[in-house]
Amino acid sequence: MELPPLLRQGVDDALAGTPLADLSRAAGALSARYRAEVRDGRFHLSDDLAARAYLATRLPATYAAIRAAMEAVAEGRPDFAPASLLDLGAGPGSALWAAAECWPHLQNALLIEGSAAIRAWGERLAAALALSVEWREGDVAGNLPDFAPRDLVTLAYVLDELDPQARGPLIDRLWALTGDTLLIVEPGTPAGWERVLAARARLIASGAHLIAPCPHALACPLVAPDWCHFSRRVARSRLHRQAKGAEVPWEDEKFIYIAASRHPAAHLSARVIAPPRAGSGQVRLKLCLEKGAAEERLYTKRDGAAFKAARRADWGEAL
Ligand SMILES: C[S@@+](CC[C@H](N)C(=O)[O-])C[C@H]1O[C@@H](n2cnc3c(N)ncnc32)[C@H](O)[C@@H]1O
Repeated sequence: MELPPLLRQGVDDALAGTPLADLSRAAGALSARYRAEVRDGRFHLSDDLAARAYLATRLPATYAAIRAAMEAVAEGRPDFAPASLLDLGAGPGSALWAAAECWPHLQNALLIEGSAAIRAWGERLAAALALSVEWREGDVAGNLPDFAPRDLVTLAYVLDELDPQARGPLIDRLWALTGDTLLIVEPGTPAGWERVLAARARLIASGAHLIAPCPHALACPLVAPDWCHFSRRVARSRLHRQAKGAEVPWEDEKFIYIAASRHPAAHLSARVIAPPRAGSGQVRLKLCLEKGAAEERLYTKRDGAAFKAARRADWGEAL
């Protein structure tokens, strides 16, 4: 997946003239903080160089993950056409750009971001969008002001940066601010899955309808060390490769998400929850099923239309 051309251009302009050695150092430090899930009271994006490193090396991946999760929401709720967005921990506006691509009728957005360094870039990039966008400084783990509910509320790659005790009350607050649909995205690690499971349980207890990825609201059938996650292939620009010291022109972003709504989703019988394993005349799919179980199923040519559908299905897709 590529960034939308306007965003790509904005990021390229933002990074022009940044010395590569500085960018690589900042990207390395950022990646180490994310990997260790450091929570030391400082924002990971506490200065301009860290913010630029995020634009170069993380924005393409978080954008791709959010965009993929939004596609699943749009598939589960084909009638959903959000006019307003509230995004918390907005960073450079990744969810804003993904929502604007997924739902072209989006009219306005309110973005809350604690770090001044990344907020400045987010504001600058979003100026290219034909939307009414307001950015505010705010602590998503603190007392959020009384916003009016928005059609779509998003929280992407933020829970892992918050104090564990702050997460539950934030989910409750976000649900109260959700006019229609709430989307939470996290890194596709076992820890990210655990955070999403906790949010999922809270949302179900609040009466939310799950839209995606789960085809049911029963207990998650996966048991550690297994965990639910998906993957999106992300194109790396030349600068992205250089900043990471990488040669391959793409990377696979692993992510997990939960989308919950005030309205039920279209019926979903199963979702593919692992990469399909295809052989000659057969394909094996690991599925999460509406009855609340996870199963591996073998489809062969003898299954006719079901085999054809299974052969087309990719990891993360509805079957
Ligand atoms: C990993 S970035 C994700 C940015 C964006 N949502 C994305 O997916 O690309 C996490 C963002 O949350 C912000 N953040 C973390 N804790 C916050 C808090 N307590 N209040 C407001 N923003 C916060 C960080 O500054 C950072 O921009």
